[in-house]
Amino acid sequence: MTEPAVEAAGIQKRFGSTRALRGVDLTLEPGRCLGLIGRNGAGKSTLVSILSGIYPPDAGEVRLNAPLATVFQHSMVVPGMTVAENVFLGRQPRRRFGVIDWRAMREQARQVMADWGFDVDAGTPSGNLTVEQRQVVEIARALAAGTRCLLLDEPTAALERGATQRLFERIRQLRAQEVAILYISHHLEEVFEICTDVAVLRDGEKVLTAPMAEVSKAELVTAMVGKPYNERSVVPPPRPTAATGATVRPALTVDGISFASPGVLLSDVSLTVRPGERVGVTGLRGSGATTLARIVAGATAPDAGAVRLGGRPLKPGDRAAALREGIGYIPEDRQADGFVPLLGSAENIAMTVTDRIARAGFVGPRRRERMAAPLARRLSLVAAGLGQPVRELSGGNQQKVTVARALARDPVLIVAITPTRGVDVASKELLLAELDRVTRETGASLLLASDELDDLVICDRVVVLVRGEVFTEFTDPPFDREALIAATEGMGVK
Ligand SMILES: Nc1ncnc2c1ncn2[C@@H]1O[C@H](COP(=O)(O)OP(=O)(O)OP(=O)(O)O)[C@@H](O)[C@H]1O
Ligand SMILES: [Mg+2]
Repeated sequence: MTEPAVEAAGIQKRFGSTRALRGVDLTLEPGRCLGLIGRNGAGKSTLVSILSGIYPPDAGEVRLNAPLATVFQHSMVVPGMTVAENVFLGRQPRRRFGVIDWRAMREQARQVMADWGFDVDAGTPSGNLTVEQRQVVEIARALAAGTRCLLLDEPTAALERGATQRLFERIRQLRAQEVAILYISHHLEEVFEICTDVAVLRDGEKVLTAPMAEVSKAELVTAMVGKPYNERSVVPPPRPTAATGATVRPALTVDGISFASPGVLLSDVSLTVRPGERVGVTGLRGSGATTLARIVAGATAPDAGAVRLGGRPLKPGDRAAALREGIGYIPEDRQADGFVPLLGSAENIAMTVTDRIARAGFVGPRRRERMAAPLARRLSLVAAGLGQPVRELSGGNQQKVTVARALARDPVLIVAITPTRGVDVASKELLLAELDRVTRETGASLLLASDELDDLVICDRVVVLVRGEVFTEFTDPPFDREALIAATEGMGVK
């Protein structure tokens, strides 16, 4: 037998009162792909950081027998550098005497982006990239390192189906070349598709390891959650047309919106969201679904057209104004716009409602926590306490803070972009159920931009965009998955 690429034994790691890892063993073998799964906060990323040498374990030992490259969960793309500089960060191609070969670097980076089907200039400053493009840069950087061992922490979180398939192809090639791979994902279908083995972490302990062929999805979810778990999808029961007991809310009208920037186009898009209605917007990359949601939330100004709430036009590209009008926003890029990293969950969640809960202009921590606690509980937020800085939370828990923050101000309209990204299977249901509950009980409307068909389940109607235009609309839930996918590709009934 060949020597393992990585052997970790008895790894323990503590952060203050949190025992993130409690004696974990892990072996990565050449030519195999180990899926590492577990709920938000289980310790997956902490293990990746320790294997990558970001920080030492408190106890235990890591033996690396091969050079290793990592795609981290949190973006490590340097915004001030170009795409090419980021791809070759720390290992630029050199000419004689160690002179950096800028031309070769740009050329190779151009090739990488072309391989992934991205129409991005290698000289683009990385600060201008979309979340998906940034993720490709991370993957390209790790692959370009020519390593024998690859750690991938939720590499597909921001990738669309096509890009995910291209990644899987690369993983298969690398396995054939005897590269050892660790693959973290909340999408169990992906784990079944690409991994040869699987390990489950729960509360910092490894509770199951098995060859992929010997476990079922139900067994994995039960191991993650710690008790038999019935997967039920959040199919909404038939709902009354008007939310009971709720005040009448304004309708959203999107009128002739056009927008053009590299890779994104919206041409003359119009739609209406009635009070209390939940409308999904979906499409492939570049379809404009995300951009449309950004425009409605006031995060991007359109080139033409208007967004009206209750008939009143909103000031284009003015997020603060949209918030005052009652538009809660779950942005795509949580690291950039979702929360304030140094503040606690309670401070982040209560941030938009300070004016409402203040006494004599002051909000004490107790008051804030009382306000934030029920939401945090319903979303199954895992943290050492509501005062723990959000940057110390696991990725999925940061996403939950972002969602809670958008819901805190009793919004009349919630604009959500891929709200369940990075959230574990069980928490995903809680999160969708919460969006469902809030819209039903308060009569708030929802505009949900997502390419995850599971998210769209809570919608009353789904609008499919193809290349910046409304292609078709599904008005009759439950929606047919195959038909939805076909429509995003521009096929099927128009
Ligand atoms: N720097 C830190 N300071 C304090 N606590 C931390 C720090 N990093 C991680 N933790 C805590 O350790 C635990 C494990 O976090 P980790 O990021 O490893 O989870 P994860 O399994 O990757 O979850 P997710 O699926 O949400 O990404 C969490 O409770 C988290 O809050
Ligand atoms: Mg993580």
